[in-house]
Amino acid sequence: PDSETPGALREELQPLVDLATRPRRNRRNQVFRSLMQETVVRPSNLLQPLFIHADDSAVPIGTMPGMSRLSVKATVDEVAELKSRGVKNVILFPKIDDSLKSNYADECWNPDGLVPTCVKAIKDAHPDVMVYTDIALDPYSSKGHDGVVDEASGRILNDETVAVLCAQALCHAKAGSDMVAPSDMMDGRIGAIRGALDSRGDANAETVGIMAYTAKFASAYYGPFRDALDSHPGFGDKKTYQQDPSNIRESLLETALDNDEGADILMVKPGLPYLDILSRMRDSTELPLAVYHVSGEYAMMKAAAEKGMVNEKNAVMETMKCFKRAGADLIATYYAKDVAKWIQEGAKSGDLEGCF
Ligand code: PBG
Repeated sequence: PDSETPGALREELQPLVDLATRPRRNRRNQVFRSLMQETVVRPSNLLQPLFIHADDSAVPIGTMPGMSRLSVKATVDEVAELKSRGVKNVILFPKIDDSLKSNYADECWNPDGLVPTCVKAIKDAHPDVMVYTDIALDPYSSKGHDGVVDEASGRILNDETVAVLCAQALCHAKAGSDMVAPSDMMDGRIGAIRGALDSRGDANAETVGIMAYTAKFASAYYGPFRDALDSHPGFGDKKTYQQDPSNIRESLLETALDNDEGADILMVKPGLPYLDILSRMRDSTELPLAVYHVSGEYAMMKAAAEKGMVNEKNAVMETMKCFKRAGADLIATYYAKDVAKWIQEGAKSGDLEGCF
């Protein structure tokens, strides 16, 4: 009966635990944990998306707490602040007035348009900050699609769209964009844009890089972004050009194509639900990889944090680590400024387990 008391049972079973290897030894204090870290995130890994508009005042985006559409001037100020925190990569997304939208999205290659104007202003003030520009028609499309629409059938016309994307990329390159980022998912656009930059661009165009949205999925997580730019599809959805979340092989096909067509960085988008895609792509190309932690992921985190359901800082920092561990060199996130601040604070307080 005695051996049935809990204490006696524990004593009887204790000798069965006889371990040569104890992984917890390497986790026993902060110095060892920091030493063993395989993955660190630095501010230089971050890309901050910025929403811009032609108005003078900032307009908060309701579904993205903490983010606003900014004037060109305020954007330049924001870039200065990001730079002071070590974030030297920014990507611009414009809200275009309805009166400037059309099916062929001609405004997207207007050299005096919002994006070229903003690129010039940033590069004049901060030549050491790398400016990325999104290449796609949706902010400029009267149909709310990334490509030119055949009015009769509603089809998105691939090759006609690629010609416009080339004009847009040339326009951005001339304004001083360091990296053009086609997010449209038309076939063949990477090679065509590379060709246009090399043959039709000015002397500096050969140094302009291409960050391809290689594996961009037809995702429910883009809603807040479309609110920010008023760019919801006018009809239907984007499933004839963005990838099906069911699939992984077509991401590998797109990887091979963008690799061969001359892309400089390949991107996966959205982020957290697609870490398997990122990891598989890491194994199938030697190019640097980027991941886009998109608007819906940001909005979900903000909502949970506001309700006190997660610790925002810890959850965001963990997410950043996971992106890097899965294979991302560059992380596009609306949290970039906060992450850089948290890394700096961690460094100051001697928190060796911070993301640095
Ligand atoms: C436009 C574009 C989108 C995003 C980046 N570029 C939206 C879309 O494809 O509908 C989404 C980014 C985000 O949700 O944060 N081609």
